[in-house]
Amino acid sequence: MINSTRLDGIALVVGSGRGIGREAAFSLAEAGAKAVVFADMNEDTAKESSEESKKYASNPAYQTAVFKMNVQDDKSVQDMVDYVVQEYGRLDYAVNAAGVDNGVHAPIAEVDVETYDRIMNINARGNLICVRAQVAAMQKQEPKTWTSRNGTRDIGRGVIINLASANSFVGLPGKGCYTISKHAFMAITKMAGLDHAPEGIRVNAVCPTWVRTPPLDVELEKNPEVRGMISAIVPIKRAAECEEVSDTIAFLCSPAASYINGTSLLVDAAVTTTVRLF
Ligand SMILES: NC(=O)c1ccc[n+]([C@@H]2O[C@H](COP(=O)([O-])OP(=O)(O)OC[C@H]3O[C@@H](n4cnc5c(N)ncnc54)[C@H](O)[C@@H]3O)[C@@H](O)[C@H]2O)c1
Repeated sequence: MINSTRLDGIALVVGSGRGIGREAAFSLAEAGAKAVVFADMNEDTAKESSEESKKYASNPAYQTAVFKMNVQDDKSVQDMVDYVVQEYGRLDYAVNAAGVDNGVHAPIAEVDVETYDRIMNINARGNLICVRAQVAAMQKQEPKTWTSRNGTRDIGRGVIINLASANSFVGLPGKGCYTISKHAFMAITKMAGLDHAPEGIRVNAVCPTWVRTPPLDVELEKNPEVRGMISAIVPIKRAAECEEVSDTIAFLCSPAASYINGTSLLVDAAVTTTVRLF
C-alpha cells in the first residue's frame, strides 16, 4: 500500500444515508479517517450507515456521528458544518453526494419547469451552498503537511469531493434537467478549485456513469433490458460497483492527490470517450 493514500483527518459526507455517499463514508473510514459525520435528510438511514462504518474503520480513535439536514435549507447546511468544527476541531474532507435524478425523461422542448427548478435546487444550488460553507470552515484552519520519502510538502487546509456525473460532460436523451444540473455541479467544482487553491483548499469531482446502488440493483433484477443496455453501452460491460467509485473519493482526499485540483475523475469505463455502435 502507498503510505500517502492513508487518511487521518475529520470527514463529513453529505448524502451518506444511502448509495455512493454511504460507501464513500465507509471508504474514508477504512482509509483511516479519525471521524466521519454522516449528514443526510434521512436520519434513520444515516444512523444505520454511521453504525455500520464502525466495522470498517481502521483508525483506533475512530468516532462517528449523524447530522440531519437538507441541502435545500441554507441554515441546516451551515449548522452541519458548524457542528463538525465544534465537535471535532476541523473539517479535513467533505464529500457532497446528495443528489436527485430526472424521474420521467423528457426532451428539452417538453421540460417541465417545476421539475427543472427542483433538480437545480438540489443538485446545483444545494451543493453550492454545501461547498460554500465547507470552504469557509476550511479557510479558518491551519494547513497540514505530509512527509514522504522525498521530504515534507504542504497538503493544504482541506479537500472537497463532489459527486457529479458522466452527465457533467455528455448528455443522455431526455435527461436534460439532470444533465444541466450536473454540468453546473462540475462548474462549481472548477470554480471552487480555482478560487480557493491559493488558500490550500482542493476541490474535485468524481464522475460516474451507472453505479450499482440499491435502486439500480432492483431495476437490473426486474428489467433484463437495463442489463442489456448497460452491457451494450459500457465498454467494461457492467455497471460500476459502489466501491469502485467510493475508493476513488478516498484517494482524491489523500496526500497522494495533493496536486489534483479543480478537475474531475471520470469513473465511467470509457463510456464518454466514444460513440459506440455495437
Ligand atoms: N447511482 C448512480 O448510478 C450515479 C451515477 C452518476 C452520478 N451519481 C450521483 O451520485 C450522487 C449519489 O447518488 P446515489 O445513486 O448514491 O443516490 P441515492 O439516491 O442512493 O442517495 C442519495 C442520498 O442523498 C440523500 N439526499 C437526497 N436529497 C437530499 C437533500 N435535499 N438533502 C440531504 N440529503 C439528501 C438521500 O436521502 C440519500 O441518502 C448523486 O448526486 C447522483 O446524481 C449517481
